[in-house]
Amino acid sequence: MYNHKDLLGLRGLMKDDILSILDNARLMKKRVENPSLRSPSLERHSAVTLFYECSTRTRMSFTMAAEYLGMRINDLGVSASSVQKGERLIDTGKTLDAMGVSVMIMRHNLTGAAHLLAKHVRAAVINGGDGCNEHPTQALLDMFTIAEKKGGFDGLKVAIIGDIIHSRVARSNAFGLSALGARVFLAGPPTLISRHFERLGPSVTVTDSVNEAVRDADVIMGLRVQLERQKAAAFPDLREYARFYGITAEILEMAKPGALIMHPAPVNRGVEMTSEVIDHDRSVINEQVTNGVAVRMAVLEMLGARG
Ligand code: CP
Repeated sequence: MYNHKDLLGLRGLMKDDILSILDNARLMKKRVENPSLRSPSLERHSAVTLFYECSTRTRMSFTMAAEYLGMRINDLGVSASSVQKGERLIDTGKTLDAMGVSVMIMRHNLTGAAHLLAKHVRAAVINGGDGCNEHPTQALLDMFTIAEKKGGFDGLKVAIIGDIIHSRVARSNAFGLSALGARVFLAGPPTLISRHFERLGPSVTVTDSVNEAVRDADVIMGLRVQLERQKAAAFPDLREYARFYGITAEILEMAKPGALIMHPAPVNRGVEMTSEVIDHDRSVINEQVTNGVAVRMAVLEMLGARG
């Protein structure tokens, strides 16, 4: 049973914490797929989304998840809020706390912002992505999708390819997947990887060789090239990146037959993956989105009912 006030990251979570969220998400998926099973279990509770960075999937799927649970949910609308008058994050959080909000779901460009907010508010805080640090619900929905398709994690080889150094998705997946017994290979250009990532989990390997990562992999996950976080050019241009690190049909041939193709999205088509790979019959990118609603319902139910 998940017994924490907040969900700030997968670092330090026990295997049982993660499995209890995935088990609950399995029940929630039935409610996503069958509206007649939805019940307003959180109708007395309310949530707020505070997105200091843009988002489509995370913000909208939390909104849908809350609505499916009967929870009232509002978006702070950061760009039209008193944040623009210079209000500090802690003061914004305390203001929402004073209104009786049960859950705050936040995305922020700064590492540690969700941890800071959680320390100062009574409401449960869910990290919707903080800088280059963590994106726990994305990794949970990725793990949920892998478990659905592969039946478990023990010994699975998961290749995560792309802009590793800026990726909160790679970090959260490295923590979570290695806690569940998978082997994680993180691959990208030498300027976008770091051996420090091998400290994220006991079975994490970092390499600049896409071939090494993909060979006999059960799962291939591409990552978006985050040009907005790169202070200096990490490679000559996107065409060069695609030539050496893009996932193509030929690259897929090296993986196990039936290997899943994943991406947290949004995808830069033709850069991280060719359109042929994105739309391949083994691509589960759209199923990841559906599973994101189920996972976020599970997290909201586990945390929201305490508020
Ligand atoms: N995968 C993900 O976090 O997408 P958004 O930026 O659209 O939320």
